[in-house]
Amino acid sequence: MLKRRKKLSLIFTTLFFILQSSCSNVPGRVNFTQHVAPILYKNCTICHRPEGIGHFDLITYEDAKRYAGGMAFAAKERLMPPWPADPHYTEFVGQKVMTETEIAILKKWVEDGLQEGPKHEMPELPEYPSRSLVGEPDVTIPVIPTYLRANNYDTFLIVKVPFELPEDTFASLVEFVPGRHNVVHHVNGDMIKYEYHKKKNVYEGEYVTNMVHDSTIKLAFEKLGLPNDDGTYPVLQKSVVNYLPGTYGQKYPKGIGGYKMPRKGAFLLNDLHYGFTTDEPVWDSSYINIFYAKKPPKRPVLEFQMGTLGVSPVLPDLVIQPNTVKNVHTKIVVPEDISVLTINPHMHLLGVSFKAYALKPNGDTIRLINIPRWDFHWQYFYTFKKMVKIPKGSTIIAEGVYDNTRKNLNNPYSPPRLVRDNDGSMRATDEMFQFIVTYVMYKEGDEHISLVPEDVEN
Ligand code: HEC
Repeated sequence: MLKRRKKLSLIFTTLFFILQSSCSNVPGRVNFTQHVAPILYKNCTICHRPEGIGHFDLITYEDAKRYAGGMAFAAKERLMPPWPADPHYTEFVGQKVMTETEIAILKKWVEDGLQEGPKHEMPELPEYPSRSLVGEPDVTIPVIPTYLRANNYDTFLIVKVPFELPEDTFASLVEFVPGRHNVVHHVNGDMIKYEYHKKKNVYEGEYVTNMVHDSTIKLAFEKLGLPNDDGTYPVLQKSVVNYLPGTYGQKYPKGIGGYKMPRKGAFLLNDLHYGFTTDEPVWDSSYINIFYAKKPPKRPVLEFQMGTLGVSPVLPDLVIQPNTVKNVHTKIVVPEDISVLTINPHMHLLGVSFKAYALKPNGDTIRLINIPRWDFHWQYFYTFKKMVKIPKGSTIIAEGVYDNTRKNLNNPYSPPRLVRDNDGSMRATDEMFQFIVTYVMYKEGDEHISLVPEDVEN
């Protein structure tokens, strides 16, 4: 009797597995080498490896076994891989979103008892570029190492990164690579372009100063030795090098974007923001990679910033009373046809959702981005798979929701306090509402041009 039951249950389980696998592509029995490792190598090891920004590795069977429960949970809740944007609203380059089948396989691996599987089936770990996320740079320039004390304050620095190249040239991309991923919060940097004979020594002066108020910025620039030898100021190109957690440099199709690089110049990281450091002091050694372009860029990438410190005000004012949820928006009318390349929504810890779209003059909606669950840690520059045309006369609207109650687990204050934008103070505990749009002036056919890196040659 017992025997028969066992047999029956075996038949049933087999049947169940056959049914399950035929329905959803989840294998009857899941093991690490054949089923789990390929998923991790596709979705996770870009960050969860010794050089990556994750705090632990997910490469070997032992790694995965240790974190199996957490992995299945993070996958099911779509906390990992981190991709706060709603993939059903709009799709972007490098979108990190797992399929339902992949999520089910991670879950089933746990249920099946964390089997290792045949060792010889183990896939090869993908090759990752070691000093860049884009490729092999032509020049790498170190940022002066910064010592960060163990404390709980944000540090804001202005840092000069001077360079001298063999000749005037063009760059397709300037990439900032943080030394310590867990402390570098963000970077905005411009490029100073010296006329060769107007500046003898680009390396003179100090390299670092604390961020200062506008009224004393000139003094700070002098301390950094930025002016020409005759005291006049060189040309400054804005926003050449930017970094936010989870972002990496984006190459654009031939002729689009890029910079004229002078023989003598300097990057001016006019705010290098280090987030809270923790129990022990650390050194950060970040660096900047330059990728040369063969030809001068024909269509410069332009940028506007909506919201805090931008071209359009936040409405109503970003003053968030304690124990309230607040909706704000900002909008702008586009005066010419433009082709949007990349967008970057920005809020701090109280942000809970973000949405942006354009309304065409005929009333149609162009979807830009929907972030139903804002995550302060993952603020990408989202690049569209193809350029997005926004016709003249359209209104771009960005909407944000802030939760300043106890329910918001990221609320920096308990009990909640009044939080506002404080004139663009960038402390994580103050708020911001920004939407940055990079674009080129529209040209016939732009909407068919792919921005997917594999399609882009340079
Ligand atoms: C873009 C980088 C990145 C990718 C891709 C990524 N992770 Fe993470 N992961 C992190 C970082 C960084 C943390 C540390 C937590 C934090 O700071 O948000 C983390 C934390 C975790 C945690 C700890 C629990 C938690 O939510 O904090 C788990 C489990 C995890 N990751 C699993 C995965 C799995 C499984 C994948 C692939 C399916 C993956 N991660 C892909 C960067 C990444």
